Amino acid sequence: MRLDKYLSDACIISRTRAVSAIRSGRVSVDGKTATKGDMKINENKAAVTLDGKPLSYSEFIYILMNKPAGVVSATDDLREKTVLSLLPENYATKGLFPAGRLDKDTVGLLVLTNDGKNAHRLLSPKHHVEKEYYVECDGDFEEGDIEVCLKGVTLDGELTKPCILKIDPQNKNCARMILTEGKYHEIKRICGYLGKKVTFLERVRFGALVLDPSLSRGQWRHMTNDEIALLDRKEC
Ligand code: URA
Repeated sequence: MRLDKYLSDACIISRTRAVSAIRSGRVSVDGKTATKGDMKINENKAAVTLDGKPLSYSEFIYILMNKPAGVVSATDDLREKTVLSLLPENYATKGLFPAGRLDKDTVGLLVLTNDGKNAHRLLSPKHHVEKEYYVECDGDFEEGDIEVCLKGVTLDGELTKPCILKIDPQNKNCARMILTEGKYHEIKRICGYLGKKVTFLERVRFGALVLDPSLSRGQWRHMTNDEIALLDRKEC
């Protein structure tokens, strides 16, 4: 791999800035100051530093975001603010997209990545990754709703896959709902079928990855390799 590409990917900076950092002598490879952006390195073995700080390379970016309300989970939108606009400008050229959609008013766990193949696989209906939501409604859930959700409900002629409903015994208008698919507005439409309107919706888990409580709404961070692996586990 070319050194300028390595630096651009590892530091999430443009190629131009990467070349400029190399030309200014700020980058070293295996202990020697590098001078040329087109220098070839082995990204898995080379010890690369920028301003003396060691860098590590990963092919893809994975971001964990606590999505706030009021932004859409899309890469671009003519009218609405997108989740990508919450990231610094230098992330704009990295090909990131949200892995799955949350409605504009839904908050919580959202993964952004540029690993298209893996995201596509994880989101495929065949993969059955569990997605868990905390739901508040304008009316109480009833015990009978549990069975209805499990059997599936018909929405616009399509039967939903079994949905696990766990009603909060203290606040019966609040519940956890676990889906293994992602139909359009699925939680809101299931609750609508049950005669209730969703007043608050938060995704709290994707596969075995749970929302990081230290991230406040709108905050994000890079995911660790262990967390990326957790996405692959279908359940908690
Ligand atoms: N179900 C919904 O209705 N909305 C979401 O954002 C996610 C699941």
